[in-house]
Amino acid sequence: MSQDTLTITDNRTGKQYELPIQDGTIKAMDLRQIKLSDDDFGLMTYDPAFMNTASCKSRITFIDGDKGILEYRGYPIDQLAEKSTYLEVAYLLLYGELPTSSQLAEWTKNITYHTFINENIKKVIDGFHYNAHPMGMFEATLGALSTFYPDAKDIFNIESRWKQIYRLIAKVPTIAAFAFRHRLGMRYSYPDNDLSYEGNFLNMMFKTTELTYKPNPVLERALTVLYILHADHEQNCSTNAMRSIGSAHTDPFSSLAGAAAALYGPLHGGANEMVLRMLKEIGSVAKVPDYIKRVKAGEFRLMGFGHRVYKNYDPRARIIKQVAYEVFEVTGKDPLLDIALELERIALEDEYFVKRKLYPNVDFYSGIIYQAMRFPVDMFPVMFAIPRTSGWLAQWMELLDDPDQKIARPRQIYLGHRTRDYVPIDQRKDN
Ligand code: CMC
Repeated sequence: MSQDTLTITDNRTGKQYELPIQDGTIKAMDLRQIKLSDDDFGLMTYDPAFMNTASCKSRITFIDGDKGILEYRGYPIDQLAEKSTYLEVAYLLLYGELPTSSQLAEWTKNITYHTFINENIKKVIDGFHYNAHPMGMFEATLGALSTFYPDAKDIFNIESRWKQIYRLIAKVPTIAAFAFRHRLGMRYSYPDNDLSYEGNFLNMMFKTTELTYKPNPVLERALTVLYILHADHEQNCSTNAMRSIGSAHTDPFSSLAGAAAALYGPLHGGANEMVLRMLKEIGSVAKVPDYIKRVKAGEFRLMGFGHRVYKNYDPRARIIKQVAYEVFEVTGKDPLLDIALELERIALEDEYFVKRKLYPNVDFYSGIIYQAMRFPVDMFPVMFAIPRTSGWLAQWMELLDDPDQKIARPRQIYLGHRTRDYVPIDQRKDN
């Protein structure tokens, strides 16, 4: 008998089955042969929230949650954060290798060429109320963009696919910045293609009367690091949404709108916004112990703490903490940092958090940096979505090229009523 197998005895029937083990997994479909009778559907697994189910094979991002390791295409995240740029990392995620100088120049040219958005898209943004949440505007505008590019439906045409990728990576910062300025009632600041990807975003956000906007190099670099850290994170909730929608062969603009909606939730990319609100609510270092007590009593969660995969310090949080100090050299220190440091200090020593392996995650410090850089709190999830666009698209490409993949369609365990006759309304009784 091969050693790379799993032998299962079904005690209901006494039958034995030998299932192959590959890459540390068994195929869920192999369980279907385990039946009570010929008309039995066969055994399934029950795994709400995909706690122990691999939904795909991937070569993009590696995480070892116990050791706190994160790599994109095999490159450690700390090396990329220190040495690379966001567009270079986006290229790495999408193509699988770091670009040569000429490849990077071509890639940068292709992205830069698409930074403008159709003037009519501005009308979509203009239609929002002045206090609309920018993430809602961002999602809706992405969905609307799909109507501007019907060629995006041609997802098995490689040339068309890359064109949509250039468009999406180029336009997400423009949409985000326009959403921000619409709410302020400020004239839109158009892309400046002489600036870097990150510098141009700062220009579109903050340019006022100056003829040419000059981004502060420290803040520009901080944005680069934050973008690199947020670019991909394997099969998280929003990436799973991107793959699930993409599996129906939906165009990438609509798929990305769905992924952004998943990211918006406070348990995912909305957590950085919630961290800032939490720090403000705590208000002072002296009130931290009391707040921790209430978290432990189950009143609410400590936002920016805990992770489904990391059971160790999130390597992104460590890098971001360092960036925070560099940013504060320019902007001045945010008093919320002291509250965050005290929260972290107490939580890392407290048995409740130690026992559950709850450590600061990527969102714990990112919000404080964004606030110091003058991004309003409700822009934080949008700030996450901009760089995650390259990760979503890399995962979408991998999905489309994977012969194992089909439309995503989980099974259920049905526990409701079975066939019963319709009761006319005048014969129904109160329950
Ligand atoms: N504060 C207090 N207790 C927590 C927290 C927290 N932040 N996170 C988990 N726990 C407890 C939870 O109550 C449970 O305790 P018990 O075993 O006594 O019931 C235990 O830890 C395990 O929690 P879980 O809910 O089973 O863990 P999960 O893997 O389903 O959840 C999570 C992961 C990230 C949703 C969760 O840790 C959380 O809600 N964190 C706060 C929100 C947050 O910071 N999200 C950002 C995640 S990183 C960026 C991203 O993915 O977008």
